[in-house]
Amino acid sequence: MKHEKVEKNVGLMAVFIAIAISFGGLVEIVPLFFLKDTTEPVAGLVPLTPVQLEGRDIYIREGCHNCHSQMIRPLRAEVERYGEFTQAGELIYNHTFQWGSKRTGPDLARVGGRYSDEWHKAHLFDPRSVVPESNMPRFNWLFEDRVKSAKTPNKLRALQRLGVPYSTEDIATAAQQTEGVKEIDALVAYLQQLGTVITGR
Ligand code: HEC
Repeated sequence: MKHEKVEKNVGLMAVFIAIAISFGGLVEIVPLFFLKDTTEPVAGLVPLTPVQLEGRDIYIREGCHNCHSQMIRPLRAEVERYGEFTQAGELIYNHTFQWGSKRTGPDLARVGGRYSDEWHKAHLFDPRSVVPESNMPRFNWLFEDRVKSAKTPNKLRALQRLGVPYSTEDIATAAQQTEGVKEIDALVAYLQQLGTVITGR
């Protein structure tokens, strides 16, 4: 009996199990590489400016993604709370994605334009000054330190290699743009553009 052979051979069985369960994944994942919706930027999408890009790196460095997701799921409760659900084409220039997997705080995918710059600064300096019940930590050192502008051009260059449409001129002027910029201002610039392409805020 052929079937008996498979049942009595763990290695062979494992191979067949792997083949069987990878079908589900293949059927779901492979078409995504060919669908326009998931491979082309949404209309109006532009790469982050050098200052916003430095802000993104501060976001990663400070671990904001450990408490905040950037991914609004197409579920009614999420859309009512956070706005239009996240589309793949909005995130095409994100390397790496900041989807996150834990929401100690609210999703930030569309926080851009929701608050003023002053609100963000007060909130990041001392979250309890604007949201008394908040348990978000303070990030007051961001108000002292400045962006290391000498490193900005290389960051743009790396992203350009990954397909983000930065021009040679963008790279040449990047360090100039981030020169002397305070970390807090870069971070707020990053937050203020989040999710604004589709909502137009
Ligand atoms: C330990 C978890 C934690 C970390 C780390 C954290 N936050 Fe928060 N964040 C929260 C919580 C909880 C709230 C909700 C209460 C509040 O508004 O302060 C919040 C709220 C926010 C809001 C307001 C969102 C809204 O829609 O009202 C913003 C913006 C924000 N955080 C940005 C950041 C940034 C930027 C960082 C990194 C520098 C960061 N957070 C790090 C927990 C965290």
